[in-house]
Amino acid sequence: MKKHLAITATFVATLTATSLFAASGEELFKKHCSACHPDGGNVVNPKKSLSRKDREKHGMKDASSLVKSMRNPGPGMARFDKNTLPDKDAKAVADYILKTFK
Ligand code: HEC
Repeated sequence: MKKHLAITATFVATLTATSLFAASGEELFKKHCSACHPDGGNVVNPKKSLSRKDREKHGMKDASSLVKSMRNPGPGMARFDKNTLPDKDAKAVADYILKTFK
């Protein structure tokens, strides 16, 4: 019986953690971006990957410039307005890109 309770507690804790972090930059990136940018690449336009080299070449050095690229993307990229990706989420995705794709 005790064991059963412990399992239930773990399960509830996992559920809570999952919903608290549901909007992590990584998860949002996987959901909205990774189809075209798998592993930070770019399947539509390989010259415009999310690597630091490409990003900086195209003038994106910080989170706010990355958020701008989501709001006003170049040709071939889906546009992410505030309804799809509120500022907080867009910023989380930008931070994820900055720390993940070197
Ligand atoms: C439908 C495919 C598609 C999706 C989905 C997509 N992108 Fe893009 N992305 C592109 C294309 C194509 C470009 C190149 C646009 C251009 O020529 O400026 C691009 C360019 C970029 C760039 C500029 C890269 C550089 O080196 O200049 C950033 C940053 C970026 N995308 C971020 C994102 C983020 C963040 C998401 C998710 C919120 C996302 N993209 C979703 C296709 C996509």
